[in-house]
Amino acid sequence: MDSFPKSTVSDTSVHTTLTHIEQKFWAQLASAPGEKENGFQTLTLVTQSDDGPPDARMVVLRQVDAERRVLWFHTDRRAGKVAQLRVHPVATLLFWDRTTQVQLRCRVKAQLHTDDAPADAQWAATWEGSRKMYLSEQEPGSPQPEPYPGFPRELGERLPTRDESEAGRANFAAVACTVLSIDYLNLGRAGQTRARFSYDGDPEAIWLAP
Ligand SMILES: Cc1cc2nc3c(=O)[nH]c(=O)nc-3n(C[C@H](O)[C@H](O)[C@H](O)COP(=O)(O)O)c2cc1C
Repeated sequence: MDSFPKSTVSDTSVHTTLTHIEQKFWAQLASAPGEKENGFQTLTLVTQSDDGPPDARMVVLRQVDAERRVLWFHTDRRAGKVAQLRVHPVATLLFWDRTTQVQLRCRVKAQLHTDDAPADAQWAATWEGSRKMYLSEQEPGSPQPEPYPGFPRELGERLPTRDESEAGRANFAAVACTVLSIDYLNLGRAGQTRARFSYDGDPEAIWLAP
């Protein structure tokens, strides 16, 4: 996959090929980090929990390596999702883009990066506004006697300086999600289009009934 055509509204005609569809959604994923209007910029991360039904929450797509089919997001290493991913690294990433009317249900294998070179590189590219949340003195999800803003209260609306923000590095984790398969669904007046793309082993693609 050397180059990706810019995505357009999907085509449900019989001439649409699986390759065409695959190139389009990978192109849209690749450009999503930093594109506010791109529905794939945020996604639902679904993890397995040990004490109940699967857990789900929104995260931001931070980087895409389309060649290796790796999707990155960032989180606090003390968060509940990190504990779940340590035990159950196979997770689901669910995307929905309103403009192209495309849902992607991605089965992934998550790899946590905390104190290594990939995490350093992701942290270096993280701006102070995002770093601010990693300055939290309180563990994510821990009970609090009063509302807690998620960073030292004295910061208020101010951004930390680059130097101040470095304290957040100790709490930062970058998560690399290698895509194992994608269930693609496109809604359209002329019909729905559904297909599965498998990457676990030799890549395979197959049409599915919606
Ligand atoms: C639009 C949106 C984007 C979010 N992005 C992230 C993110 O990139 N990383 C993250 O850890 N939490 C993010 N959150 C917060 C999570 O959804 C979640 O509430 C928090 O991380 C705690 O999740 P956990 O207890 O399952 O670990 C985001 C929330 C929203 C609403």
